[in-house]
Amino acid sequence: MKPFGPLLLVLAVLASAASGQDAPPAPVPIELPKIDIDGSVDDLLAQLSLEDKAGQMTQLTIGALSRAAATAQDPDGHRIDEEKLRHALVEKRLGSIINMDGAAFSAKHWQTLITTIQEIATAETAHKIPVLYGIDHVHGANYIHEATLFPHATGLAATRNLELAEMAAAVCARETRAVGIPWTFAPVLDVGRQPLWSRFYSTFGEDVHLCSAFGEAMVRGLQGSGISAPDRVAACGKHFIGYSFPFSGRDRTQVLVPERYLREYFLPPFWDAIDNTGLKTIMVNSSEINGIPVHANHSILTKLLRGQIGFEGVVVSDWEDIKKLHDYHRVAPTMKEAVRLAVDAGIDLCMVPYDFSFTDLLVELVNEGAIREEVLDESVRRILRLKYELGLFEDPFPAADAVEIIGNVEAGELSLRAARESLVLLKNDGALPIGPETRILLTGPGCDLRSPLHGPWSYTWQGRDEEAYPRSIPTLLHAFQAAHGRENVRFVPGTTYDGIIDLERAANAAHAADVIVCVLAEEPGAEQAGNIDDLALPAAQARLVRAVSFGKPLVLVLLGNRPRIITESDSLANAVLWAGYPGPKGGQAVYEALRGIFNPSGKLPFTYPRAPHNLVAYDHKFSDTADRHFGFNGFNPLYEFGHGLSYTTFESGNLVVPVTELTLADTLEFSIDVANTGAREGSETVEVFVRDLYASITPPVKRLRDFRKITLAPGESRTLTFRIPVSDLSFHNQQNMPVVEPGEFELQVGGQSAKFTVL
Ligand code: BGC
Repeated sequence: MKPFGPLLLVLAVLASAASGQDAPPAPVPIELPKIDIDGSVDDLLAQLSLEDKAGQMTQLTIGALSRAAATAQDPDGHRIDEEKLRHALVEKRLGSIINMDGAAFSAKHWQTLITTIQEIATAETAHKIPVLYGIDHVHGANYIHEATLFPHATGLAATRNLELAEMAAAVCARETRAVGIPWTFAPVLDVGRQPLWSRFYSTFGEDVHLCSAFGEAMVRGLQGSGISAPDRVAACGKHFIGYSFPFSGRDRTQVLVPERYLREYFLPPFWDAIDNTGLKTIMVNSSEINGIPVHANHSILTKLLRGQIGFEGVVVSDWEDIKKLHDYHRVAPTMKEAVRLAVDAGIDLCMVPYDFSFTDLLVELVNEGAIREEVLDESVRRILRLKYELGLFEDPFPAADAVEIIGNVEAGELSLRAARESLVLLKNDGALPIGPETRILLTGPGCDLRSPLHGPWSYTWQGRDEEAYPRSIPTLLHAFQAAHGRENVRFVPGTTYDGIIDLERAANAAHAADVIVCVLAEEPGAEQAGNIDDLALPAAQARLVRAVSFGKPLVLVLLGNRPRIITESDSLANAVLWAGYPGPKGGQAVYEALRGIFNPSGKLPFTYPRAPHNLVAYDHKFSDTADRHFGFNGFNPLYEFGHGLSYTTFESGNLVVPVTELTLADTLEFSIDVANTGAREGSETVEVFVRDLYASITPPVKRLRDFRKITLAPGESRTLTFRIPVSDLSFHNQQNMPVVEPGEFELQVGGQSAKFTVL
């Protein structure tokens, strides 16, 4: 049973008070038992042997303890190997297990599995320490078959709706905890400044402020105000640090980055999540930075993370990454040396995840004097503390009836809302919205598959297995046919992701349609499987666009991981809608956006490049942007960061900055009026950029410092007031310290600008 008791009692008192006629009596104070976590951890730690400690620091994947994996066709087909499990828990004192095996399990199967694991851990092991189970629930509880999935992070960032992101994360937490899993490896706090990187979709885009704001919202949603609650989990900020910036774009390859840049662009989302939301765990970057693998980098994992930032939670390695110090990065001539390097650098928990090599070598290293046992004590203390904070020592079992809330109607509605708000209308020459009686041709690889709506980490790791998706999720074609009438929606695939099927048939069908909706897509690929050699849209899909472009209204819908280069296709289209990986409600949301059933409001969280090598972010350095050939940076995107159209129009004006001379201790205050000047209700995001005119490090042209989304009725206007502490305008100087240098700044908001001075 979950510890619902005291909470239910408070609710019961409030409910009975609310139903009475008189003023509600003051709530009766309830004595909650106070658990002295530090005392309990110390007591337990004092009883543990070296082997116990090494076991607590070990994490295995469930596949290593199983007899059979689940399959797409049989989510309950997974079978645990009780002998191996018992050996792992009782003999090897294993502390943590992760992952699913093969494909998503049903909620019931998860409950049975977690119950079996925790029964052995709490009844048969010497110290009765519950297991810390972790899972990659990165866009909803994506490994529970009945759970609610949401758009991936890039889509959430496009909503510019922090409250929505927090609510989505709270659903993920509730559904994850319902099956007894208390820990998810989310959110990704890497900043997406390299569109070639295979995990671009998992970031909140290219801007630091946006990544911090959404990262914090997600952690708040996952952890709530306390992770012992029956509907919250511990979050894991990953992948500390710099993982998203591989030079080649290929996953887990070398990152070359100056320390100042690392601190300026990649550190803040982690630091903010730790400081502002009490993030409980951190996962480490698998790759190397400037020649040093992060798993072996004491300076990053201990001096920076523990010393400077003051992080007190658990640091978990990424998959096999300690072993990789030996056999991939080759900084350790033996596996034993790899273990020594990683533990010395600051890893608490090793995602081994197939065997006990780490555990055994760690014991040997301590016995040989190569690692002090106190180092293990520190890590085990953090791991045990997390288990206590999660309430696992009180009750590690899932409540049988908790599964009933999984995938409920409200959560589905929230997913639909998130999908709608995530869509970004990039271009519209008036072809949209589509009228009700029009004959639509749907063509392209994204029309009749569920996987390109969902992306990776959806029922399977890669998310590619169509069989693994619940039949109840409509493809885009199903959603269009259901809403627009089968007779009015024709489908001709035209191409696969990169091969031609029936271009001529698509072209002929286009002649018979009133409007052509071409759904371009990228096949999901989670990590290395998502590596590409060319950002250009695959040639077959570009040919499809040409084949159906002859003057009839042509709408492109872009599904996929990252901005694939569509410059030619875009020029042939009348309208373009970016949809990323919108999730299970994506089909319905796209249909409704094109028909104008709701008014799109998404804003690009990244710069959409015009050419494969024109990868310049919006906050680039000053240059002669008027001349793209001679300008230093050649910033010439197809669509800018923050771009996103609506079916209504907005106008901003009357920017008022009452005080324009400020000190570092002050707060910049200003107001601006925003009006809906069109004929229908719409939502607008006001983005606040600040330009530092001169600085000791070449300043960027502007940086996003705040944003706010509002909804306005036609003709309505509102005055928005912003307050930005001057200290938030800092950058890292030559000593790698955040500073605000005195001088002139320019505020840019809603097409208006105003100067102010920092004294
Ligand atoms: C990924 C992590 C993930 C881990 C556990 C790794 O391959 O890089 O993001 O959390 O696997 O599944």
